[in-house]
Amino acid sequence: MKLVVAPDYETLTELAADFIAETVADKPDAVLALPTGSTPLGAYRRLILKARHGHLDLSRVTTFNLDEYVGVGLRDPLSYHAYMTEHLFSQVNVDPARIHLPDGLAPDPEAEGRRYEAEITRAGGIDLAVLGIGANGHIGFNEPGGPFESRTRPVRLSAETIVAMQAEAPSEGRLPVTALTLGIATIMEARQVLLLAAGPEKAEAVARALQGPVDVAVPASVLQRHPRATFLVDREAASRLK
Ligand code: F6R
Repeated sequence: MKLVVAPDYETLTELAADFIAETVADKPDAVLALPTGSTPLGAYRRLILKARHGHLDLSRVTTFNLDEYVGVGLRDPLSYHAYMTEHLFSQVNVDPARIHLPDGLAPDPEAEGRRYEAEITRAGGIDLAVLGIGANGHIGFNEPGGPFESRTRPVRLSAETIVAMQAEAPSEGRLPVTALTLGIATIMEARQVLLLAAGPEKAEAVARALQGPVDVAVPASVLQRHPRATFLVDREAASRLK
């Protein structure tokens, strides 16, 4: 696994946006898996600026978000669909027909997971999966203990994750306890992975993922087995590395 330590969050966002933009420059019809949360916000801002200045064309890109809350419709402000619309999609030229998120209102979430997997396969697989990491080491919403063979499916969020997500939620409403997430096997099949981590609260998870044993207790540790995975972290998130 490759490790890049940025001196601060701003540099991290710049490097992350460059990485994504280069992937698209090399392959204009790239298939990207994208995260929500606080970490990618700066990178999305920089991608928007690149697009505005004519340095990035997303018109042929296909996107698959990593996750969505179960029971939350796409127009609900709590939804990851709303997050992506606000923070990226409404401000760049991604073709709406090529945007994919799991349907949080699907009557059968298990079947929705299978449908989403089939969509990814139909798109030719993921070229670049951009990930965040939970303080507990989760990737997507694959919480500790989740099997490495997992596919897109509904999962129960840990109490820790719910607290973290609640702190970032755009409104007071209580968050669902279940989400649809890309599976670990699905993430591992991406041709390239870029994991972003910022802040001291991620330091322990980053150290365990990069330097600890590969173990389901730290889902991100599986990336040690990925042939082309890069951890791009700021200095605070790197502070527990040996
Ligand atoms: C979100 C996702 C999660 C987050 C992780 C970090 O789509 O899949 O794994 O990336 O919880 O979230 P932040 O960036 O808010 O610390």
